[in-house]
Amino acid sequence: METLDPWSSQIIDYEKLFKGFGIETMKIRDEKLKENKLFTRGIIFGHRDFYKWWNDFRNGKRVSILTGMMPSGPFHLGHKMVIDQLVWYQNLGISITFAIADIEARTVRKIDADKVKETVKSYLANAFALGLKPSQDIYVQSNRSNPYYRLADLLSSKMTFAEVEAIYGNMTPGKMISAFTQASDILHKQLPDYFGKHKILVPVGPDQDPHIRLSRDLADRIGFIKPSATYHGFARGLDGGKMSSSKPTSYIGLDEPIDVVKRKVANALTGGRNTLEEQKKLGGQPEKCIIFELYKYHFEDDDAKLSERERMCRAGEIMCGECKKQLIEKITKWLEKHQHKKDKEMARAEKFVEENIDYPF
Ligand code: TRP
Repeated sequence: METLDPWSSQIIDYEKLFKGFGIETMKIRDEKLKENKLFTRGIIFGHRDFYKWWNDFRNGKRVSILTGMMPSGPFHLGHKMVIDQLVWYQNLGISITFAIADIEARTVRKIDADKVKETVKSYLANAFALGLKPSQDIYVQSNRSNPYYRLADLLSSKMTFAEVEAIYGNMTPGKMISAFTQASDILHKQLPDYFGKHKILVPVGPDQDPHIRLSRDLADRIGFIKPSATYHGFARGLDGGKMSSSKPTSYIGLDEPIDVVKRKVANALTGGRNTLEEQKKLGGQPEKCIIFELYKYHFEDDDAKLSERERMCRAGEIMCGECKKQLIEKITKWLEKHQHKKDKEMARAEKFVEENIDYPF
């Protein structure tokens, strides 16, 4: 059996996800989903049991959303995509739980206490500025509740070492702790201490699928409802590789100075040809272009305008320089506004960190 290590930086083989691991292709079966460009544009490309969850929601039954982030590096556009989803569901009136995986950051990534605190502050301020309501259920793993920890402990008794290895491959003690902690993130809202049994949707990137499979197996073994999940495409890095917080040239950070962002976008890989003449003749290749992807994922809400940009690119009517210039203008405007909002949220984020994080060492 193939394994997938959520902590490595391997490039995900999408074919394998569908064939090997049983993720289903996302098909739009309800008009309401067409209000969200992440669905219509195929950015949310796969799911497990999404419609079981969605139908409960549409039938007025209790449902909720839960996802999490590990505070291990700068908050970038990949994180924004997750918060954008939470905000959309929140605006449909669905209850959101947002787990900040500080235990994972410390046990697996070995990030020191002060750095974790700083990072959590930034993640929260950014999330609030993007529209996540502070009244949602937001917590850090290190400061949840007894039922949540007891659940993590007991879940560990429901699996053998071989089963865990069959999902994750090579384990370390820290990874083991954070896997069962994450399973408790995903399952604990079904405890009687919280909402009781109900359907939960976990929107994640495909690298998190091992945790989803672990949690679904465990749910079955303790008589809980299996959590549903959706999977969104990874934004590629600006350099064409993987977007990774350990490679600053690969991402756009929402805390970065605007001049730095401008420079990064100006240097990003495009789907352009070797020479201007060639590009005018053959047209560009938007499917290879990071700039086009940025428009598609984040900076062009209007479908008609996006298609027109794609058409012009393929027809050789717009060159990469111009397309980048327009994007830089859009990003600059957006980022200035966002950073202003974020600054106003910093005090609230700081207070949360002070009240919620306290490590013995
Ligand atoms: N492991 C996730 C990450 O690396 C963070 C996370 C923790 C999470 N708990 C979760 C994601 C629960 C989804 C659901 O970012």
